[in-house]
Amino acid sequence: MTPWFRALFVVGLVAAVAVAAVQLPETVTLDKAKNKQAPVVMSHKLHAEKIACDTCHHTQKGLTAQTATEVPTCASCHLDPAKPEVPSMREMSLTKNPLHKLCIDCHKKEAKGPTKCAECHKK
Ligand code: HEC
Ligand code: HEC
Ligand code: HEC
Ligand code: HEC
Repeated sequence: MTPWFRALFVVGLVAAVAVAAVQLPETVTLDKAKNKQAPVVMSHKLHAEKIACDTCHHTQKGLTAQTATEVPTCASCHLDPAKPEVPSMREMSLTKNPLHKLCIDCHKKEAKGPTKCAECHKK
């Protein structure tokens, strides 16, 4: 490759990566149950900086900030699922609701982050 062509090639690659990646949310609000429970706000930034993306976005193995294009919401699969084998986020149970399980289990394990109802469902 001639130097000018190589430069053009590199610029093209960088542009392609920039187009592929999505803007990561600073915070996310989970409010599909807001009729029953106060919405849950979490700092996405704080979590995404330290925890592998696919810990939470478990249907997209190996997801990174650079490869993220479309990320389906949890509710798109977990709210009122048609199949009984898909856990429902309508559950009050701390062991059956997939969000309770994922979020609270880690907070307990790390001894950091909210574990009590009102700390997440802030009125
Ligand atoms: C601790 C769990 C957790 C981690 C780690 C995490 N996310 Fe998320 N992310 C969420 C939740 C929860 C939402 C909100 C989803 C919803 O609205 O149902 C979200 C939302 C998003 C959205 C916005 C989706 C939309 O259309 O609203 C993107 C993009 C995203 N995450 C990408 C990433 C990437 C890339 C990483 C890793 C760098 C990452 N996330 C790490 C939990 C996490
Ligand atoms: C494309 C559909 C889909 C999306 C999107 C999705 N899930 Fe799931 N999830 C499933 C299915 C199917 C299962 C059950 C089978 C399995 O464990 O993989 C599951 C299982 C889980 C489990 C395991 C529950 C248990 O009892 O062991 C957790 C936790 C979970 N999901 C959390 C989340 C969170 C949080 C999000 C959003 C960041 C999310 N899921 C997005 C389809 C999805
Ligand atoms: C780590 C944060 C966290 C803690 C602690 C927590 N929750 Fe949740 N809970 C959530 C999230 C996130 C959802 C999904 C919310 C949404 O989409 O509106 C949820 C959903 C629910 C739902 C489903 C309501 C519906 O109709 O869909 C109920 C009920 C609920 N929680 C009750 C509780 C109770 C009771 C406690 C304490 C024993 C508790 N939660 C503790 C995060 C938490
Ligand atoms: C793998 C571990 C892990 C998972 C999974 C996880 N968290 Fe956390 N979370 C943490 C840690 C660690 C902290 C404390 C961060 C700190 O204080 O530096 C925290 C802090 C928080 C806080 C307080 C700071 C803030 O974000 O506003 C909220 C709220 C929270 N988590 C909500 C959630 C919710 C809701 C989920 C599930 C969708 C979740 N977390 C999943 C590890 C986790």
